[in-house]
Amino acid sequence: MKAALVTGGRGFVGAWLCRALLERGIAAVSLDRRTPRERPSTLDLIGIEGEVAEEAGSLLDRGLLDQVLAEHDVDTVFHLAAETIVGTVRDDPAAAFDTNVRGTWTVLEAARARGVERVVFASSDKAYGAHDELPYREDFALRPTAPYEASKAAADLIARSYWPSYGLPVAVTRFANIYGGGDLNFSRLVPEASCAAIDGRAPVLRSDGSPIRDLLYVEDAAAAYLAIADSLGRDDVRGEAFNAGGERPYSVLEIVAAITRIAGTGVEPDVRGSGSPDGEIDRQYVDASKLRERCGWEPAVGLEEGLGRALDWYSAHPEVRPPVSL
Ligand SMILES: NC(=O)c1ccc[n+]([C@@H]2O[C@H](COP(=O)([O-])OP(=O)(O)OC[C@H]3O[C@@H](n4cnc5c(N)ncnc54)[C@H](O)[C@@H]3O)[C@@H](O)[C@H]2O)c1
Repeated sequence: MKAALVTGGRGFVGAWLCRALLERGIAAVSLDRRTPRERPSTLDLIGIEGEVAEEAGSLLDRGLLDQVLAEHDVDTVFHLAAETIVGTVRDDPAAAFDTNVRGTWTVLEAARARGVERVVFASSDKAYGAHDELPYREDFALRPTAPYEASKAAADLIARSYWPSYGLPVAVTRFANIYGGGDLNFSRLVPEASCAAIDGRAPVLRSDGSPIRDLLYVEDAAAAYLAIADSLGRDDVRGEAFNAGGERPYSVLEIVAAITRIAGTGVEPDVRGSGSPDGEIDRQYVDASKLRERCGWEPAVGLEEGLGRALDWYSAHPEVRPPVSL
């Protein structure tokens, strides 16, 4: 791997992936609809903005994609850019399907035309929809019911079809909830609860705290993307899907309790929901043994350590924390 395009590189996971690429001496290029002048960017917040080649524009712009792949001599594509907030997708599904589904085949077509050596597409554990059996394995049916889930499932199927149909070496990831410093999506549990604990306010829960979640530390997620890309020469990896998670389920209340305990603030959550929020899966965690066995990945950062790192990061970045209302 010499030069990698990360779509959505200014976002949370994309920026940490760019950092992991740079640490391995691989040139990182970001294509993101947010321009380098727009702040904040996680690339900037984790201190690598100047080291990543940034291209501003949309995934849906095929000409731009062709140009970026050629100009940077890209051999590997990590396709992460998406409409990622479940509520935003629910409010405007057509726009989200455009980004998440048409955007994906636009990237795949550009990669195919260019003869890119590896493509890793960020699907999601949400593509499975709800299943009673836990943990989720890759051979479970994709049974989405909400628009975000459907967009990921559709793109997941399309992406995997490019290996048997066109010989494009592609694999898809179905990762659990990724967390860590630099996530600016405050409707998500860990950023909201971490900032609340730091600022001494009650973390807002959109559920009643009972849903079961699986948390994957962001640098472990970046390592998983690289492990899959490194293994894309193999027949048991190309065209395949891979789960990754923290390898243990926690209830939302347990996660919030851990955050407030580590932060040392005794705030109680502000429980605003009953059961799971509308359109969200109630109980989900994933079996990552396929990724362990085929690509040699395992998580390195346990929940306590990861939550501690996230808290340290949000403490050091008061400028991104939501304002505390008096
Ligand atoms: N964060 C998680 O818990 C998680 C879990 C599983 C899968 N994923 C997947 O990982 C990927 C990254 O997630 P994230 O949490 O970093 O999201 P994010 O919202 O922080 O980042 C997404 C980035 O994509 C960019 N983008 C959106 N539409 C675009 C378009 N049309 N053209 C160019 N850029 C566009 C955004 O500007 C943003 O910078 C997504 O595909 C998401 O579905 C995330």
